[in-house]
Amino acid sequence: MSVLRIVNVVGARPNFMKIAPIVSAIEQRTDMESILVHTGQHYDHVMSDLFFNQLGLPRPDIYLGVGSGSHGEQTGKIMIEFEQVLQDVQPDLVLVVGDVNSTIACGLVAVKMGIKLAHVEAGLRSFDRTMPEEINRVLTDQISDYLFITERSAFENLMNEGIAENKIHFVGNVMIDTLLRHRENAASSAVLDELGLEPRQFILVTLHRPANVDDPRILEKLLQVLGMLSRDMPVVFPVHPRTRKQVQQFGFEELVRQYPGLRLIEPLGYLDFLKCMDNAKFVLTDSGGIQEETTVLGVPCITARDNTERPVTVTQGTNVVVGRNPERILQEARKILQGNWKRGQIPELWDGKAAERIVDILTEKEGVKLA
Ligand code: UD1
Repeated sequence: MSVLRIVNVVGARPNFMKIAPIVSAIEQRTDMESILVHTGQHYDHVMSDLFFNQLGLPRPDIYLGVGSGSHGEQTGKIMIEFEQVLQDVQPDLVLVVGDVNSTIACGLVAVKMGIKLAHVEAGLRSFDRTMPEEINRVLTDQISDYLFITERSAFENLMNEGIAENKIHFVGNVMIDTLLRHRENAASSAVLDELGLEPRQFILVTLHRPANVDDPRILEKLLQVLGMLSRDMPVVFPVHPRTRKQVQQFGFEELVRQYPGLRLIEPLGYLDFLKCMDNAKFVLTDSGGIQEETTVLGVPCITARDNTERPVTVTQGTNVVVGRNPERILQEARKILQGNWKRGQIPELWDGKAAERIVDILTEKEGVKLA
């Protein structure tokens, strides 16, 4: 029997939880083989290895070790290394997830070599082309053979960009597959005790977007907002390496020290972070994935961005998108602290079975050709 050989690509932190259920679904099939390639875009233990361990991901079959760099440098390095991988491995299909530089870099190499490309989490659009992720999304979608989407807005976006309808498959959300699989496990994490926190008595924060952390005036204002909030309730802020670097470079450590309730801590592993999200009074973030995770957990989320590529988290979920105006953020936060926030519902097909659907579709469409 022929086996469908799939190269699954990961590079940065949010990719690991998306690929985990797909690799696991492939491993349950005898007619498919998964080869896991890690580009090494993220490389610190807390940004990478810890996630592999906690998510039960197999060690990468191939590690490219490209590391950090400017966009051109990072994308270029990944492409050079990944081309060699595809020459050696000769897969039937390459599967990429999300919107990071590894996504477009590996996708582009695959299609130029005539290898089929699947994009998981296709069609999301912020309509803000100053975001590096938006460029990665638009371009990856243009060259993909399979576009697996998480919400119906993505279908409209892709149709508007001239993508053939028969390439688009609404399958649900693989990141939510992982969340549902690990929620119970995460509940036994001791992180709240370790940090001295009580359930629903703290605010959880993540900020790492260049638009929020690379400009000292904006970052300073955001830190001041967090400081003000920390007078109402402890604020726990696991700090992404990009943000840590900027706080140090701009000399904001002193500013942070003025607020005893504002705690900047090291990035957390998947299970500890999930436990924190599930128990926070609310989450303030600029992440894409966290908007979706809080929606499923039913925890209020304030998004400090001007837009979201995940509108279902606003129309159906617990998310409010407020921009980065300090007054607006404080106003929303105080509403929640007073118990006044919108309860959401779980979006369609976010049921823990997205990866199975993806693998079924690939078997049905590609398996036939192999037989
Ligand atoms: C990347 C993604 C972003 C995603 C984010 C999640 C792109 C364009 N951006 O942003 O979409 O939301 O990951 O975390 O792909 N660094 C470390 N250790 C690491 C990794 C990074 O110290 O393991 C530091 C380096 O100083 C590096 C900086 O973080 O220069 C930025 O890393 P990079 O991968 O370029 O982008 P992220 O901001 O992490």
